[in-house]
Amino acid sequence: MTTNPIAELRRRHLEAELGGGEDRIRKQHERGKLTARERIARLVDPGSFVELDKFVTHRSTNFGLDGEVYLGDGVVCGYATIQGRRVVVFSQDFTVFGGSLSETYAQKIVKIMDLAVETGCPVIGLNDSGGARIQEGVQSLAGYADIFLKNVLSSGVVPQISAILGPCAGGAVYSPAITDFVFMVDMMSHMFITGPEVIKAVTKESVTKEELGGAHTHNEISGVAHFLTETEEECLDSIRTLLSYLPQNNRELPPRIPTTDSPERRDENLNTLIPAEPNQPYDIKELLVRVMDEGSFFEVQERFAQNIVIGFARLNGASVGIVANQPQVLAGCLDIDASVKAARFVRFCDAFQIPIVTFVDVPGFLPGTKQEFGGIIRHGAKLLYAFAEATVPKLTVICRKAYGGAYDVMSSKHIRSDINLAYPSAEVAVMGPDGAVNIIFREKIAQSSDPAAEHKKLVSQYREQFANPWTVASLGYVDAVIEPADTRLHLVRALEFLRGKKQSNLPRKHGNIPL
Ligand code: HXC
Repeated sequence: MTTNPIAELRRRHLEAELGGGEDRIRKQHERGKLTARERIARLVDPGSFVELDKFVTHRSTNFGLDGEVYLGDGVVCGYATIQGRRVVVFSQDFTVFGGSLSETYAQKIVKIMDLAVETGCPVIGLNDSGGARIQEGVQSLAGYADIFLKNVLSSGVVPQISAILGPCAGGAVYSPAITDFVFMVDMMSHMFITGPEVIKAVTKESVTKEELGGAHTHNEISGVAHFLTETEEECLDSIRTLLSYLPQNNRELPPRIPTTDSPERRDENLNTLIPAEPNQPYDIKELLVRVMDEGSFFEVQERFAQNIVIGFARLNGASVGIVANQPQVLAGCLDIDASVKAARFVRFCDAFQIPIVTFVDVPGFLPGTKQEFGGIIRHGAKLLYAFAEATVPKLTVICRKAYGGAYDVMSSKHIRSDINLAYPSAEVAVMGPDGAVNIIFREKIAQSSDPAAEHKKLVSQYREQFANPWTVASLGYVDAVIEPADTRLHLVRALEFLRGKKQSNLPRKHGNIPL
């Protein structure tokens, strides 16, 4: 009896769609997790997914693997649209050998990454895997390396986004780590180089999987992840939101999303948002939300290094990347984590033609042996390097403090920011009045009959002379001093004006950022 070829095709489709089988699908659901295909269906525009390599199988005969073959071999790959824009997606299928990676599985991922680069569209990886397919051994390691290489060569060419929706351990973590944004789901995602058992054996430390590499750990302590969500549905929705700010590739501009928020909108509340007392904190995010298009502020790494705020937003419909000191945390000082967090973000924006708007209220770099021994010098230099190297339109608003080296670093005019604005509350000086007076008038204060009063008088004199925007305005180090209420208007106009900006750096293989 000859098999009807159409019926055979249909049968194979159904077989592939069952992955590791109904029992394992049930187990996946019992773990509270969606299957690889359900995840893709949730992520992309309905009906837009086109699967590739659905019938690929592994080639291993080790440990009886030839008797256990699944169509598709543990990863679902293809192309689709999100909000009508093209993407490629791979989704690891935990129901097939625990989503572990084989040689042919890696080839499937590499194939769609090549397609993404050649056609200029983002790559989204949904990770849920036990790592290298143990039975395959080194072919699996080779497969990982092939993916790592593609990740590196695609970096800065197309956006790469990773969601960790299960285990991700050993060297497997390095593919997500190279991508631009890592999403994790609370109590579902885990990333580590070596698991709790190995740690116990080697260092005698006891640590749970969650403490070691859970979503909170990587969003709050290590800075490996950029987003934490409560559920995987929320995670997949957030990926869609993130993409709405990004261009398809490094040759295109981000999409413009029309807004009903007037570009001329003044906000009188901004004139009183910044406290007159320089040491009193305020929430910089309130300022950002008031200035940007209504509802458009989308924070990145919200829980990590909270002394600096980074994120995307829109100004009159156009995507911008925001970097802002947060006076509410560590008084907005720059430390190692904040510098690295912002530097990587600035480089992302620069690679993908997203203008950068910087809000400055920084008393300086965080002092202390912990920071110095940790290498604040080279880490702080990363931020300086990233801002200086960036050729996208750069706008800066000095809200209050801009002291010392941190003034230079935070997208100052001197490192090629295009339009720099200052509020009347701006204080730009080589250091804070207290510190400055203590150094330059040490003897005068010591010899005074009332040192405390003398110190106070000198601080007030210093503040009058330097802690204001007028010196920098007279030198042209800021282009205008503006009312905070008019910030939106000024930024929108500057951004429109800078749309045609063309700037390039000297030809070189690549610079040597102090990593
Ligand atoms: C082959 C694997 C596998 C693997 C899991 N499975 N990991 N098969 N290679 N790496 C299979 C299991 O045999 C099981 O098959 C199914 O997947 C589900 O696994 P369970 O253990 O039942 O699930 P769970 O209890 O949820 O535990 C998941 C897990 C655990 C935490 C991922 O399976 C685990 O620890 N696996 C080993 C992880 C590991 O050591 N990987 C290699 C690391 S080396 P059945 O048939 O029962 O459904 C590495 C190097 C990468 O990854 C280097 C890159 C450069």
